[in-house]
Amino acid sequence: MFDKRKIVEKFALSEHIVVYPGDCLDLLKTIPNESLKLIVTSPPYNIGKEYERRLKLESYLEQQAAVIRECVRCLSPKGSICWQVGNYVDNGAIIPLDTILYPIFTGLGLKMRNRIIWHFEHGLHCSRRFSGRYETIIWFTKSDDYTFNLDPVRVPQKYPGKKYFKGPNVGKYSSNPLGKNPGDLWVIPNVKSNHVEKTEHPCQFPVELIERLVLSMTNEEDWVLDPFLGVGTSIIAAIRHNRRGAGAEIVPKYIELAKERIQQELAGTLRTRPMYKPIYDPVEAGNTLIEAPWNKTKDSKQLLLIKEKKVKYHTR
Ligand SMILES: C[S@@+](CC[C@H](N)C(=O)[O-])C[C@H]1O[C@@H](n2cnc3c(N)ncnc32)[C@H](O)[C@@H]1O
Repeated sequence: MFDKRKIVEKFALSEHIVVYPGDCLDLLKTIPNESLKLIVTSPPYNIGKEYERRLKLESYLEQQAAVIRECVRCLSPKGSICWQVGNYVDNGAIIPLDTILYPIFTGLGLKMRNRIIWHFEHGLHCSRRFSGRYETIIWFTKSDDYTFNLDPVRVPQKYPGKKYFKGPNVGKYSSNPLGKNPGDLWVIPNVKSNHVEKTEHPCQFPVELIERLVLSMTNEEDWVLDPFLGVGTSIIAAIRHNRRGAGAEIVPKYIELAKERIQQELAGTLRTRPMYKPIYDPVEAGNTLIEAPWNKTKDSKQLLLIKEKKVKYHTR
């Protein structure tokens, strides 16, 4: 079924890719109750970007609450909502948006699972405070029985050759052969001018950031929705892993760019920064515990994982 994927404008559960050209509330109204497994987005931050009209903070929060309420209605009982935000800046004073959005989510009965720190190295240089080099992803679930697949998003161990030095397992390798939990601090480059994924959108997600959420919080064929779609990154991450993707966008040039990028993804020609490309290289860092035990045997699961990940290091 996935070889026939095409982009449509109207939502239907039988479709695979929906790019709705209009307001996200109008798209949400057409989506059945409890049908989406992951809703991931970066909403306007109300800081006067070209696509937003700066509102009073109370009005901004009311608008966000209306969208979040609809998202919760459409969310599967096993589903997750990830809201990626930074700071609202008022006359030089910062207000971390996650702190003021948090009560909206919990007031709708959601439970917070993580507040992920997305750290990046590039951005505006401030002169009256330290330059902002992280934003957050606040992750909520509708119930305690939620989809969470850790294995597909494990990352290589920093010290794969480390062994227990005491206790009943002394001398055995202590790390999980499938890799380690990536933790809640994610170091992923943001999409600035020299990034391979850069379009004319001022604040697009890197695809790899959303891939990690899609792989861990959904299964194949599940629906992923981004109410503030921009240039289509969330749909790209979803369809790359055989999920269904939908989103709304109001700016015509971003809608066109989203469609172009999705077509390129379907054709296998979209260039992205690979998900497993390391920022930290233990060899360059002069580490001594760099030889993974599974590199020494031919038929172990561990060897497979490392091989698969190496293949993905190349930019497409
Ligand atoms: C922070 S950007 C999201 C960028 C996106 N994550 C990406 O990777 O391209 C927010 C987007 O929401 C769009 N937007 C603003 N209000 C909207 C609304 N009511 N409905 C749908 N899209 C909206 C803006 O035009 C903007 O492109």
